[in-house]
Amino acid sequence: MHRSTIRPATAADREPVLEFCAHTWDDGDYIDEVYDGWLADGGLFVGEDETGQPIALMHLMLMPDSGAWLEGLRVAPKVRRHGWGRRMVAFGMRWAHKRGAHSLSLMTSQSNRAMIGLIGQLGFELVLAAQWYRQNRPATSSQTELIIAGPGSIDLESAQLLKAHRGRYARGWSFWKLTPELFAGHLQRGEVVQTIDRQAWAIICPNDVDGPEIAHLEGAEGDLTLLLQGLWNLPALAQAKRVVTLTAVDTAAEQALSAAGFEPWEGMFLLYERSLR
Ligand SMILES: CC(C)(COP(=O)(O)OP(=O)(O)OC[C@H]1O[C@@H](n2cnc3c(N)ncnc32)[C@H](O)[C@@H]1OP(=O)(O)O)[C@@H](O)C(=O)NCCC(=O)NCCS
Repeated sequence: MHRSTIRPATAADREPVLEFCAHTWDDGDYIDEVYDGWLADGGLFVGEDETGQPIALMHLMLMPDSGAWLEGLRVAPKVRRHGWGRRMVAFGMRWAHKRGAHSLSLMTSQSNRAMIGLIGQLGFELVLAAQWYRQNRPATSSQTELIIAGPGSIDLESAQLLKAHRGRYARGWSFWKLTPELFAGHLQRGEVVQTIDRQAWAIICPNDVDGPEIAHLEGAEGDLTLLLQGLWNLPALAQAKRVVTLTAVDTAAEQALSAAGFEPWEGMFLLYERSLR
């Protein structure tokens, strides 16, 4: 017998972890798809009980904006409500703080009462509510043409929707602060597109899992609707069967997505953040 602890995960933990994750949600879990990648980046941790069995899981990562991100928290059903979830997240806060992160963020479903209760106890605050949207390739394409934005063509300071997103943009299942350095990288890679009159712009990123994603949308509703209609003419989407986006609710972007025929997908998610300063 040894003491229960939280330690870096190993390849040998994979099987017992997948066993207790088998029925996390009604349709199973995605941990089997991400385990090896998370293990390889060094941020995967397990909680281990007194018999040495893994009974909890969590992935932590540092983000380019001096924040840290927590995801994939799982506690084995047989030991839930014994404080393991709280212990794992508190460990995540210490891990992030030690590495110089100013905050720890995470996203959870609006319907996850257990997680919302847990992080509320640890001082996490709600940053924004966001909704996934997706659109399959339409049968007919629109005539709208978009242009690739050049360096210096967009002033981030005046980006109103970015302000509504509290400076964050969506990267897969996480939100990052859109720093000038990150934005310059997107511009350089030709991932920022604009309407010809430059009234609306968007960042389009490759996303291996869900199809290309619109990481950010900026502009008024009508201009954004036009931009969304022109997306399918972009070379970056030539092979794509669908495009997805995670966007803050009650914004012009959300209205434009509906107007352009995108459908809500996956339910609503809440972004929470805990300051570590
Ligand atoms: C969410 C989860 C990680 C919580 O783990 P846990 O070890 O059971 O949580 P804890 O025992 O540390 O509980 C801490 C607090 O969270 C809240 N909480 C936990 N489970 C709850 C539940 N079923 N209903 C309501 N509140 C709950 C309570 O406020 C609890 O404090 P209390 O016991 O003093 O009342 C666990 O239920 C789980 O693995 N769920 C499935 C996966 C998941 O939802 N992960 C989060 C994805 S973002």
